[in-house]
Amino acid sequence: MKNPAVLFVCLGNICRSPLAEAAFRTEAAALGLTVQVDSAGVGGWHAGEPPDRRAQAVARRHGVDISAYRARQVCEEDFYRFTHVIALDHENLAALRDLRPEDATAEISLLLDHVKGREGQAVADPWYGSQSGFEVTWSDVTAGAKALALELVETP
Ligand code: 4NP
Repeated sequence: MKNPAVLFVCLGNICRSPLAEAAFRTEAAALGLTVQVDSAGVGGWHAGEPPDRRAQAVARRHGVDISAYRARQVCEEDFYRFTHVIALDHENLAALRDLRPEDATAEISLLLDHVKGREGQAVADPWYGSQSGFEVTWSDVTAGAKALALELVETP
């Protein structure tokens, strides 16, 4: 696809969407895909903050440093700047559908919709769990990132 731009959106932008951003940057680079990438939160409570320590730790274990990422809230302009706005769970998806201006150009989907056999599934919120939950998050966002990167490479 020509000039794709992908925005990952979760609730706080400090756990799941920064991990999705990191995994997607890695997968896109591996495929030689030139793409703009960012992440944001439905809510603005954590705006300006770095990712959760547990998210930073899991990314570091998988070779990615996300310590310089900073949270921000999704805004209407995002639906024109990005070709794909990707929700991590159903609550995020509903919020994005409410916020999306009528003439917006971005396609909205769930991350795992892009993974064969996992369509309609959510990436669970790891916030209240333990560090091991973040490994599940990493595995889920990596599956989504791989599939989405491949899809964008293959779309004419
Ligand atoms: P995220 O996780 O949406 O994956 O960034 C959460 C971060 C913060 C909160 C909930 C979920 N919170 O309640 O502050």
